[in-house]
Amino acid sequence: MDTLPAKGIKDVLEARSKAFAAWSPAELIEYSVGNCHQPAKREISIIYDIAHVVAYRHADRHPQLVKLIETLFLSFDTLSRHLRMEEDSFFPIILRAAKKAGRPDSPGKPLPDYICEMAETTRKTHDAIANDLDILRELTGYYTIPGDGDFLIKYLFQKMKKLDREMLFHMHLENTVLFPKAIALARDLNRQDTCPSAFGNNVLSVPNHKRSFHPAKKENVNSPAMPKSFKYAKGTN
Ligand SMILES: [Fe+2]
Repeated sequence: MDTLPAKGIKDVLEARSKAFAAWSPAELIEYSVGNCHQPAKREISIIYDIAHVVAYRHADRHPQLVKLIETLFLSFDTLSRHLRMEEDSFFPIILRAAKKAGRPDSPGKPLPDYICEMAETTRKTHDAIANDLDILRELTGYYTIPGDGDFLIKYLFQKMKKLDREMLFHMHLENTVLFPKAIALARDLNRQDTCPSAFGNNVLSVPNHKRSFHPAKKENVNSPAMPKSFKYAKGTN
């Protein structure tokens, strides 16, 4: 069975990220937005809608599908907000710093002095998203199609599994390649000696312990009521 065991994830992610080690921050951001963020925004909307149909068809025999809908809503809300924050706030700041680094004497706005702080906060959000993915894996038995499952549940789990892997890669790439480069830029430009030196070695902490559901619930206590159809990310860039 092709599962996502916590033990093997790190090696796969590291091997895949290696190819990006020489890329500039601007290239990494362009790649991340085009190849990770935009597909993810499309997929979470599709997955959420399909999950509702699957739950409608099968929840009487598989009651965990009801929990799956709730978990998807909370997880995707966190993920959507995160992607938007990176694109609207963090990435533009990194790009400004990269531009400034190429023209150290150019006039312009003062450089941001909080890249380190944003990187650390974003890394924590990545860990929260990784926790949510772990819960989704548990709820779906590592995306195992039930014996009585139909084509739709198979399609749903295939999509969830692909999104899971792509999100883990996206977060690992940012944590271990993009953010250390951004922090190095900030240090050079603003003499930020207070950046935590160990940050560059941080990878996703992929939890492998059992726990009770649902940690994301706590973080999203003020989330709006669950809509009939999850359109949160549709049409956004
Ligand atoms: Fe991210």
